[in-house]
Amino acid sequence: PGDGLALTPPMGFNNWNSTHCRAEFNEAMVKGIADIFVSKGLKDAGYQYVNLDDCWALPQRGPDGNLVPDPVRFPNGIKAVADYVHSKGLKFGIYTSAGTKTCNENGFPGALGFEQKDADLFASYGVDYLKYDNCNNQGVDAKLRYTTMRDALRRTGRPIVYSLCEWGENQPWLWGKDVGHLWRTTGDITDTYNSMLGIAKTNWALADYAGPGHWNDPDMLEVGNGGMTDTEYRSHFGLWAIMAAPLLIGSDLRTATPETFEILGNREVIAVDQDPLGIQGRPIRSAGGIHVFVKPLKNGDKAVLLFNEGEKTERVTTTAAEIGLPQATGYKLRDLWAHTDRHTAGTIAATLPPHGSAMFRVNADRGWAKYPPAVDIGAALQ
Ligand code: DGJ
Repeated sequence: PGDGLALTPPMGFNNWNSTHCRAEFNEAMVKGIADIFVSKGLKDAGYQYVNLDDCWALPQRGPDGNLVPDPVRFPNGIKAVADYVHSKGLKFGIYTSAGTKTCNENGFPGALGFEQKDADLFASYGVDYLKYDNCNNQGVDAKLRYTTMRDALRRTGRPIVYSLCEWGENQPWLWGKDVGHLWRTTGDITDTYNSMLGIAKTNWALADYAGPGHWNDPDMLEVGNGGMTDTEYRSHFGLWAIMAAPLLIGSDLRTATPETFEILGNREVIAVDQDPLGIQGRPIRSAGGIHVFVKPLKNGDKAVLLFNEGEKTERVTTTAAEIGLPQATGYKLRDLWAHTDRHTAGTIAATLPPHGSAMFRVNADRGWAKYPPAVDIGAALQ
C-alpha cells in the first residue's frame, strides 16, 4: 500500500501445505528450513521469508492478554525463532486470523478486537510478514477488519508485509491495494493437479489488479508435496511465475528431492516472477485446453508460457508477432527449463505432454544465428 514493501512478489516458505497443524510444525522445522534456504542456495535465489501458519499459539491468551506460543512446538518462544531466522539474513513471518479464533478446530485466539495488542506483540518478536486469515470473523465487514489490522501494523513502526487471506470472498482485488501487499484470490490449494489448475484459472483472470506492492495471491506452492508429477509441478511453478504470484514454498525442504530443489531453485523462472515491471502475465490465447501466456519484462523480453492443460500430448505453437514482439529477421529463444538458447525466424513451439508446459524468454536478437535452430523445443520435457 504505497509503503515500498513487496515491490516484487514475496518469496519464502510457509509450513501449512506440508504440515497443517501436525506436530512436525515446530521450532526444529522452522530453523531447519532457514538453514536449507542458506545451504541450498534458495536464499541467494531470492527466497527470503520464513513464515509460520496456524497453530503456533496456545488456545488461551495469557494473563496479560497476549498470545502465548505453544511450549511444546516452540519451547524457546517465538522471538528466539525469529532471531534465528534473522541471524541467517532472512525475514520472519507469522499468522493469525481477522476473527475471534483461527481456523483450526482447537480454536486458537484470533486478533479481532485485539489488533493493536497482537500487532505490538508481533513487532516485539521482530515479525516482518503477517498472514491474516478470515475464520470466525463474526460477520464484521472484511474491509474494516483488514484495515484495522493494517493501521495497527503501521502504528508499530515496523515494516511488515501484510497478506490478506480472505480467500477472494469480498473481491479484495478491488480494495486490497490500499490495505495489504497481497490478497488471496481463492480458497485453499490442495496438492492435486485439478486444485492447482482451478486456482490458476481464477487467478489469471485477475491480472489487471496486480502490480508492484499489490499482488494477486493464488495460494502457496505445493511443489514437492507428492500429489503431482514433476511435470505438473513445473507447470504449477511456471504458472505462478508468469502470474507474478507470491512464491511461498509449501513443502518440507528437509526431505525434498533433487527435482523439487531444481524446480523451486530455477533462477530463470524466478526472474520472470520477480521482474521489476511487476506485470502479471496473462493468456493471450486459450482454447481447447491450450494456453499461451505472455508476461512483458523490464528489459524488453517477453516471457512466454505454453501450457497443455489436457490429457493428450500436443504441439503448441505461437509466433513472435502473436506475443507482441516487433518484426525482426530472427529471435532468440531462451528455454527456461532446459537452460538453452535457440534461434527462430518467428515460430515458438513446443511438444507438450499432458499437463506439461514450456517456458521461454524471447526477444529479437542480432546475434541469433549463432544459436542452433529451434526445431522441437519442449520435447525434452516429456
Ligand atoms: C485457511 C487459510 O486459507 C490457509 O492457508 C491456512 O492458513 C489455514 N486457514 C490455517 O488454519
